[in-house]
Amino acid sequence: MTTRILTGITTTGTPHLGNYAGAIRPAIVASRAGDVDSFYFLADYHALIKCDDPARIQRSRLEIAATWLACGLDTDKATFYRQSDIPEIPELTWLLTCVSAKGLLNRAHAYKASVDKNVEAGEDPDAGVTMGLYSYPVLMAADILMFNAHKVPVGRDQIQHVEMARDIGQRFNHLFGAGRELFTLPEAVIEEEVATLPGLDGRKMSKSYDNTIPLFGSAKQLKDAIARIVTDSRAPGEPKDPDSAHLFTLYQAFATPEQLAAFRAELLDGLAWGEAKQRLFQLLDNELGEARERYHALIERPADLEDILLAGAAKARKTATPFLNELREAVGLRSFRSAVQGNEGGKKKATKSARFVSFREDDGSFRFRLLDAAGEQLLLSSAFADGKAAGQVTKRLQAGEALDIRVDGNAFAVWLDGAAVAQSPAFADLQACEQAIERLREALAPQD
Ligand code: TRP
Repeated sequence: MTTRILTGITTTGTPHLGNYAGAIRPAIVASRAGDVDSFYFLADYHALIKCDDPARIQRSRLEIAATWLACGLDTDKATFYRQSDIPEIPELTWLLTCVSAKGLLNRAHAYKASVDKNVEAGEDPDAGVTMGLYSYPVLMAADILMFNAHKVPVGRDQIQHVEMARDIGQRFNHLFGAGRELFTLPEAVIEEEVATLPGLDGRKMSKSYDNTIPLFGSAKQLKDAIARIVTDSRAPGEPKDPDSAHLFTLYQAFATPEQLAAFRAELLDGLAWGEAKQRLFQLLDNELGEARERYHALIERPADLEDILLAGAAKARKTATPFLNELREAVGLRSFRSAVQGNEGGKKKATKSARFVSFREDDGSFRFRLLDAAGEQLLLSSAFADGKAAGQVTKRLQAGEALDIRVDGNAFAVWLDGAAVAQSPAFADLQACEQAIERLREALAPQD
C-alpha cells in the first residue's frame, strides 16, 4: 500500500541547517521511495499567526520554496504547494473547528505557554492571544487530514499537534463517518538521530535563540558561523570528549559512519578545535555546495517558482476538491437536488428505483453497476483503485450535474472531467440505447 507522507514548513524565516537536517533532508529522502506519495507544503496561513510583516512572509515563502527545490525535491513525484493556494484547507478547518473540543485546544502547548506567561506577569490570561494562535492546531489538523496522510514528519514540538489531528479526525469520523473512516488517522514521525540539531551555543538550533547556521549563505558565512560554535577550552593536543561536544553532534548529522568514527578518533587524539571546525566546514560545504548554487539560481527566477507552486496546488486540489465535497455531504451540506437521505429520512425507496451496486474485482479494484428499476444493468463503471474513488463517482453522478453522455454505436458512456467513468452494455439497436439513456436520466435525476 502507498504511504502518504505530509509535512509543512511555516514561512516566517529563512531555512537554516537545523531545518535542513531535521525536516527538509529526511522529507526529500522519504519522497523518493517507491511506495510513497508525499505532500510537502509551505504553511503560509500558519505563518500569518506568528508574523504580521507582509514583506517577511513573502520573502520567506520564496526562500523556502527555493530551498526545497534546490535540495532536490522532485515535484513530478511529490506534491509541493502553498497552503494558501488550497481553498479547501480553510474550509475544512471550519468543519473541524465545529467538532474540536475547546478543552482540547486549551491544552495545546503553545497556547498554554502564552497563558502561563501572562499569569506570571499578572496579566489577563489571554492577553495577546489571537484566535489564530488558539486555533493553530485545527488548521494544522486540516492540513493533515485533507490529504489523509499516514505519516507526518515533524519536530518534537509538533508531536502534540499531530496527536490533536488524530483526535479531531477520529471525532469527525465518529460523528459523520457512518461507520466509515472518512479520515485516515495520522502518525507523527521523528528522525531520532537528527531531529533537533544543536545550534552554535549547544541549545536547540533555532531562530529564536539566534544560534543558527545558515543553510544557503555564502561559503564565507558558513565558515564564520562555524567559527562561532562554542567549544570547551581544551588546548590543541589535549584529548576532547566527542560526546559532550555539540560540534561533534553537528558533524554526526552529516557524516557517514566511517567519517564519524574517524572524527571521533581524531578528537580523542587531541585534534585542535580550530581543525575540528575546519573538518565540519568541509563536510557541510561538500553536502551543500551544489544545492547552494541551485538555490541562488532559483531565487533569481521567482516567476518560475510561482508556476511550479501553482502546478503543485492544482495537483493537490485534484485530491482536495472531491474529498471536501464528500465531507460536505457527510456533514449535511448537500445539494438540494440530491435525494433526501440519512437516518431521519426513513427507508430508501427500495422498490421501483434504480440503484448502484458496488463490488470488488479479483484484482482488488472497485467497480459499481447502476441497475434500473427492473434490475437491468444501465452502467458498468471503470475500475477504480479504491472504494473511495468509486464512491465519489457515484456521488457525482447523483449530484444533479448535467450528465455528459456519449453514444458510440448502440452503447453509451458517461464521462466526468474528461474521462469515461462508466459504460452501458451494447443494446440491440439505437432505439433501445436511447431508451436506456432515458432511464438513466430518470435514475439520476434529482428526486423531489
Ligand atoms: N506547525 C508546523 C511547524 O511549525 C508546520 C505545519 C503546519 C505542519 N501544518 C503542518 C507540519 C502539517 C506538519 C503537518 O513546524
